[in-house]
Amino acid sequence: VEQTYIMVKPDGVQRGLVGEIISRFEKKGFKLTGLKLFQCPKELAEEHYKDLQSKPFFPKLIQYITSGPVVCMAWEGVGAVASARKLIGATNPLQAEPGTIRGDLAVQTGRNVVHGSDSPENGKREIGLWFKEGEICDWIPVQEPWLRE
Ligand code: GTP
Ligand code: MG
Repeated sequence: VEQTYIMVKPDGVQRGLVGEIISRFEKKGFKLTGLKLFQCPKELAEEHYKDLQSKPFFPKLIQYITSGPVVCMAWEGVGAVASARKLIGATNPLQAEPGTIRGDLAVQTGRNVVHGSDSPENGKREIGLWFKEGEICDWIPVQEPWLRE
């Protein structure tokens, strides 16, 4: 079972899309194990996106992610990382399929409302970055036997 780090970016919070975005992962059948509203410090944004350090848009990206509160989430499920990326849609919202979060709710790469981990390793890494140990909650959803045969 995989863990993925999903984050509603500051534009998603400001536009009132938090409930809508959480709802999509909840309805899909993943298990929520961590959730908080959080003002991200610059250092954490830089660490989170360190692979993009050399990109020309990096300073703008850090400015964007720290421009207001984000909603941090940890979700768990079989195949959760790749499936969450599909629910989120392409990086450029104009290329994201209708039915995806970005395809339905966003228009620009620099304001694409949500983040999702790109590998199970990064899922673990990012949950470790954004959450303290006591903030992750393991529990057994009652719907579990109704999701899988
Ligand atoms: P995340 O889930 O946020 O990691 O997006 P992604 O995996 O679809 O894309 P990637 O990791 O390549 O880029 C991270 C984020 O940087 C994107 O979601 C955008 O917010 C931003 N970004 C990527 N490319 C560009 C770009 O060309 N211009 C601008 N302004 N922002 C970009
Ligand atoms: Mg990425």
